[in-house]
Amino acid sequence: MTTPELVPILTKQEIQQKIMDVARNISRDYEGKELLLIGILKGAFIFLSDLVRHLSIPAQVDFIRASSYGNTMSTSGTVNLADTVQIDVRNKHLLLVEDIVDTGLTLSCIQKYFLSQGPASVRICAFIDKYERRETDIRVDYACHTTDEGFLVGYGLDYAENYRGLPGIYHLKL
Ligand code: IMP
Ligand code: MG
Repeated sequence: MTTPELVPILTKQEIQQKIMDVARNISRDYEGKELLLIGILKGAFIFLSDLVRHLSIPAQVDFIRASSYGNTMSTSGTVNLADTVQIDVRNKHLLLVEDIVDTGLTLSCIQKYFLSQGPASVRICAFIDKYERRETDIRVDYACHTTDEGFLVGYGLDYAENYRGLPGIYHLKL
């Protein structure tokens, strides 16, 4: 077995700069509104923790758990939702916080679920928007980084549960 190659894509410093820029836009757009950030576990746990600390407006935080990959590099097509949020979402402005959007199936399923719960609005914030394999018409309202292809790891993103703790983003080549 050959050792996987990790090609650097974003450094720790570049990540923080990109999050600061997006946080500024979110803070401006949600000024005076009741904002609830909903992190999609597990991948978004690191991104959400940095994002919320860069906002200059108050925000509540909750999480939902979703999985569709198992231990592979492409979606199984079936999205499993579990551990839904505890905070009442009615009349709140929801911002779904995701690590990376690929086909869009995960977010389209989660977005539908929340739209049926009576929120004031639902938008999407992804650390990475990877558009090459998009299969749905969902719109990523806030993205820190866009890329067309490649399997990325680090900063919360995993391959078979590994690499989440890397401080930067890397392209994993098996
Ligand atoms: P989608 O439903 O195809 O948009 O897949 C979204 C989910 O797949 C993300 O939340 C990630 O957990 C996972 N995913 C998609 N692309 C990558 C990648 O390049 N690296 C790590 N995880 C990925
Ligand atoms: Mg994820």
